[in-house]
Amino acid sequence: MKSSLFWAALGCLAAQVRAKAVFAHFMVGNTKPYTQADWERDIQLAKDAHIDAFALNLANEIPELTSSLNLAFSVAANKGFKLFFSYDYAGLGAFNKDAVVKLCDDFCNKPAYYRFNGKPLLSTFEGSESAEEWHDIKARTKGFFVPDWSSQGAFGAIAKARGVADGLFNWAAWPWGNQDMDTYIDAAYMLALNQSGGKPYMMAASPWFYTNLPEWDKNWLWRGDSLWFDRWNEIIFNEPEFVQIISWNDFGESHHIGPLVDKAMEAFHYGKAPFNYGAGYPHDGWRAFLPFVIDTYKNGVATVTKEGLTGWWRRSAASVCGDGGTTGNTASQVQLEFAPGQVSQDKIFFTALLGSAADVSVTIGGTAVPAQWTATPDGGIGLYHGSANFTTSHRGDVVITIRRGNTQIAAVRPGASGSIGPQSCVNGLTNWNAFVAVDWSPATISATPALKRNQQGCIQGTGTGNFKGLCKFNCRYNYCPVSACTCTALGKPIPEPQPQLAPGFPAAGLDENYTGLCAVACRLGYCPPTACSRTKQPLVVPTTSPFAPPACTAGEPIVAGELTGLCRYSCGFGFCPRNVCRCTGQGPLNPPPATINGENGGPREGLNDHGLCRFTCARGYCPGPVCVKG
Ligand SMILES: *[C@@H]1O[C@H](CO)[C@@H](O)[C@H](O)[C@H]1NC(C)=O
Ligand SMILES: *[C@@H]1O[C@H](CO)[C@@H](O)[C@H](O)[C@H]1NC(C)=O
Ligand SMILES: *[C@@H]1O[C@H](CO)[C@@H](O)[C@H](O)[C@H]1NC(C)=O
Repeated sequence: MKSSLFWAALGCLAAQVRAKAVFAHFMVGNTKPYTQADWERDIQLAKDAHIDAFALNLANEIPELTSSLNLAFSVAANKGFKLFFSYDYAGLGAFNKDAVVKLCDDFCNKPAYYRFNGKPLLSTFEGSESAEEWHDIKARTKGFFVPDWSSQGAFGAIAKARGVADGLFNWAAWPWGNQDMDTYIDAAYMLALNQSGGKPYMMAASPWFYTNLPEWDKNWLWRGDSLWFDRWNEIIFNEPEFVQIISWNDFGESHHIGPLVDKAMEAFHYGKAPFNYGAGYPHDGWRAFLPFVIDTYKNGVATVTKEGLTGWWRRSAASVCGDGGTTGNTASQVQLEFAPGQVSQDKIFFTALLGSAADVSVTIGGTAVPAQWTATPDGGIGLYHGSANFTTSHRGDVVITIRRGNTQIAAVRPGASGSIGPQSCVNGLTNWNAFVAVDWSPATISATPALKRNQQGCIQGTGTGNFKGLCKFNCRYNYCPVSACTCTALGKPIPEPQPQLAPGFPAAGLDENYTGLCAVACRLGYCPPTACSRTKQPLVVPTTSPFAPPACTAGEPIVAGELTGLCRYSCGFGFCPRNVCRCTGQGPLNPPPATINGENGGPREGLNDHGLCRFTCARGYCPGPVCVKG
């Protein structure tokens, strides 16, 4: 009995099915040189991918963007595509309230403006300091307001300005460190929104993240790897009201899925990138299977009409060239930092859309490298995903081939432009961006999975730390509460094992987060003593979330000297830049002291302190001569 009691009592957030839509984040700032033909190309490609609308990112420079917007709205109207505004409060500072309203007055009534329940959709990137103004903006625009206020956390964002948001977008689309993507932050949003009367959730999906723009103190990557495949599974499982893809054309962060447009790459110039790491790294292949996954997300099932294969990889193993000072994770978001190669793996990744099982093989420079599927669709129809490892000694062109028996279905072979080896490095530096290529079978087929989403259950999942074993066990039997576990595969529900025993309880000293998982797992015969007990035990209320990843809690300079005090201070509060400090202790984050108004500083002339003085001086610790106030 998988009783409705468990689902209700344990707060499983089975999202109710409402209108579903998929958007892509679009940097309007890149489009100053855009012609009508450029807009037509981008909009047609987005439509072909079954994307409903662009979320138009506008920094606070609206006069400069108005002619682009006029062109975009007229092309979108002609093509039956939609657009809406995402006011970027972080790019060039906060907006003036009247300017926000004026822009909506000018565009929100146009036929191409995206509406939800009849209201124009309005969004933001950050800007929670201006939350109060949105009461008035909403009243004047009649807009439906779904901001991204990720810096405030889910519960902070929903409470802002007495709940002014009508829904929330959550920017957190990338995994932490050397882990694969989970849904703990999504779970917090879904819970916060559910408790606010069921406001809609906009879930983020992104394929990659690498940025190296020193002008804006940005030089890090987050794990891409299998993310694009994993995240869509998470979306199809959780069924949020909206999805926003980050991004269409943010080339400076390497997560674009739109076409490369040479004239739209000024970010590399203004950001003082060491080289243009976007040029020559097409990502179009990441759009190939969007129609299938988006239709599955919206309708619960989709038909495969053409088989195809997408492959992506970095063009050199992590240690072949210099790392360029790039970190895996970023201290600037008080994350533990890793070597970039620990986060971004030396693997060739591939996803195939198939009507039935097939074999995959990979060669690099003509040499076979072992390749395997790591995920296949239950029932055989849909997306297959896998990878092949490569090393520093692999050199040459990449070929990925799919065969069924002796018949080749598709082969990705981009030639020299995607070849692996040191020749891909620029000035001895690794390009941490992904090269993406796609190939289609010429044949037309028609294959539809037997089960729709609402007939499927979770058949595989995982969890963090001590939750891992419990989640792996429970998710297999379609009990995969998003508050504690991440479902990684859907399929025909697997019957519960027999015999059934008595429900269990969390082990002594653990917390309520284990209650449902132990109740079910022990009943089904899996009752690990490190997590569960057969008898009721005293529980605790944890002071820190058991789902938050560890932070740095102590550190030393890499080279003893003028940075010693700074590393010791800031590493203790999670800010431990690995280019200058070494983290020597990990645990729950000690939240950094609040910044003091008017206090700030930077490093002495000629010192690259990777932000240490800026971090410490703003908090009242500004030791000279290494740091200089002001
Ligand atoms: C919140 O979630 C519960 C459990 O899924 C559901 O029964 C309830 O209707 C939701 N509340 C709202 C307001 O959506
Ligand atoms: C790649 O390496 C990992 C870790 O060493 C290993 O588990 C996996 O099986 C390898 N993959 C292939 C396709 O050989
Ligand atoms: C899980 O633990 C967190 C952190 O203590 C707590 O806020 C949350 O309410 C717990 N969840 C449940 C379902 O008990």
